[in-house]
Amino acid sequence: RGKCNLAGWWQNELGSEMLVFNANSKGNFSGEYYTAVSSAQKPIETSPLRGSQHLDEDGKCTFGFTVNWSKFSDSTTVFVGQRFEDHRGQEVLKTGWLLRHKVNSLHDDWQATRVGTNIFTRLNCKEE
Ligand code: BTN
Repeated sequence: RGKCNLAGWWQNELGSEMLVFNANSKGNFSGEYYTAVSSAQKPIETSPLRGSQHLDEDGKCTFGFTVNWSKFSDSTTVFVGQRFEDHRGQEVLKTGWLLRHKVNSLHDDWQATRVGTNIFTRLNCKEE
């Protein structure tokens, strides 16, 4: 278990939660994302994510992952981010995301991409 371990439960400022599984030796990982918000019509469902991270020993690795919302939405989101520790030693993931919506024609392409940021903290950190 290196210093850049992303495995476990995380929550962002929207209340969305994700479970990241252990990365393999190449830094590839998978997980599950439960978004607290949605612009789709259907009810929200847990969605799979696939990502790739650096395995730096300084704990400040960069990473990216894709969430496929196909259980309830036509859109796709990619996140990129970096892990830090705050002044209390609490882990924080600073991320940016692009959300691609499905539009019906080339003419509507201009409005298909949303951008934003999310900050994730550990959901089940053990208080000792
Ligand atoms: C959709 O609306 O089509 C699917 C759900 C998208 C949820 C977005 S992804 C970026 C942002 N961060 C979250 O945790 N949820 C929203």
